[in-house]
Amino acid sequence: MGWGSALLVLGLLLFVLPGKAAAFGAGNIPSIAQVEGHNWRHGDIEDMLKTVAFLHGKKWTTMMIGRVYFGNWLRDYSQAVDVGSLKGINAATIRIIVWVLSFMANGYATEEFEVTEERLGAYRPEEHIDNPLGYADGQDARQFDPRLRGPVDPRELEIDPRTGMKNYIANESGGWATSAGYLRWSFARSIHFGRVYTNGASGTSGKEADLCEALRCLGQALHCMEDFSAHSNYCELALVELGFRNVFPHCGSATQIHLNGRTVYPLVTGTFGAVDFLHSVLGEANDHFTQSEVDEIDIALKNAEQANKSTSGQRGFFGGTGSGGSDFVSLLGQLPGVGDGFASQARNLKAMSEAQEQENTRSAGNVNVVPGMSPNFDPVRVSGQIYPILEFRDKIVRSINNMISKIPGLESLLERISETLTAFILGLLAPFIRPIISQVSKALKEGSAGLIETSANQQLEPWTNPRCDNPTHSMLSKDHFTNILNSCAGRVAATVLQYVVP
Ligand SMILES: *[C@@H]1O[C@H](CO)[C@@H](O)[C@H](O)[C@H]1NC(C)=O
Ligand SMILES: *[C@@H]1O[C@H](CO)[C@@H](O)[C@H](O)[C@H]1NC(C)=O
Repeated sequence: MGWGSALLVLGLLLFVLPGKAAAFGAGNIPSIAQVEGHNWRHGDIEDMLKTVAFLHGKKWTTMMIGRVYFGNWLRDYSQAVDVGSLKGINAATIRIIVWVLSFMANGYATEEFEVTEERLGAYRPEEHIDNPLGYADGQDARQFDPRLRGPVDPRELEIDPRTGMKNYIANESGGWATSAGYLRWSFARSIHFGRVYTNGASGTSGKEADLCEALRCLGQALHCMEDFSAHSNYCELALVELGFRNVFPHCGSATQIHLNGRTVYPLVTGTFGAVDFLHSVLGEANDHFTQSEVDEIDIALKNAEQANKSTSGQRGFFGGTGSGGSDFVSLLGQLPGVGDGFASQARNLKAMSEAQEQENTRSAGNVNVVPGMSPNFDPVRVSGQIYPILEFRDKIVRSINNMISKIPGLESLLERISETLTAFILGLLAPFIRPIISQVSKALKEGSAGLIETSANQQLEPWTNPRCDNPTHSMLSKDHFTNILNSCAGRVAATVLQYVVP
């Protein structure tokens, strides 16, 4: 693919944006998170947005950036809701796990940051520009969740003679889901809510919730755009075009097409099969919804429980006596105005959590009942139980953030509260979440065993079959630092975004 068609692609991306996203001002865009590694995600991206104009030419605040990133982040984790995992665990349970992960990644977990089943959605290939070939092994995935996609139409996998890209990317004449369609939908929704916020009819404008929804939709659209360079062979094709003839285009040698009078390889993205699911979602030192990430929460929860139990005073806690838990409660009680209310809420939540812990211990005696996963395990009930904990925590953080600037002299108290808050909250969550985590890890590990062997051959097909234009996601994607084109794809994504946002 030449720069001519690169421009075409760019033009196409611009074309799918209705009415221009003027609502969000000019310049750079957050999070090429998908493309870059973990460190990048939390560092540079946020700095990048701060250099750019927000609504009415204001600056992006950390909170606004967080809201955009939340929308972006959710797309990654919607991959956990797919056929493979739904066979073992129901969607409501997956949502709880993702909710806790989100709390740890994004810092908030309620209101606009609540991971609802609706916001989480399910795995849809077009949201990541994934090649749907082989999706759900030919089964109709909608039997597991009506939001999943149906069987693949072979025409989706053909190359669009107009753009040289696979039809599922941006050919909208066939009635199948396309990434271009998803982008248009997300940006339109973002712009709609942004306009309601800025110019809504009398009484409807200025609502914070509308702004948050606009930012979340912006984030999910950006996720898809960032995947364009990260999940396709765009970088390879551009390199070939620049004269690096030895770059492998991830398509068989006989797949070249005629496009605008030139002979080029088609632009394709990777298929996302069982092995890729493992590669991307289950771990293998990967930065998505990894096994190890689930394990990490488990460890964090365990530590929080231990810390509560050990009575030796920890780093400079007030008084230095009693358990970490009650120290925290007494710290809270010192907050001016709101302290007493917070402290009594904390005590109530703690009592609730301890009751659950005892229930777990009781059922642990019975080997037939996995605690929390007994036949009468009800994810909806658990969500109801953890919501007040997360809500309590968000309330404290929001009021601390308000106080920091307004009431001088409280810095050291607020700092100590923030330091211990997470441990306290994790300790409260532990009895509810840990049983689920152990069950989910087991289901995921069982589900993945034996899959690697069977589809390993597919991974090498573009090398062995000259007619193959369906490379796999694992071979093609540049999501991870281990891929040499990772930073290249990241910079392409950033540049594309700079063109798109104004
Ligand atoms: C879209 O896909 C169909 C079916 O493969 C194809 O006939 C058509 O040429 C493609 N391109 C456009 C612009 O419709
Ligand atoms: C927290 O500490 C208290 C008092 O030391 C103890 O009774 C309780 O079981 C602990 N709670 C948890 C969740 O570990």
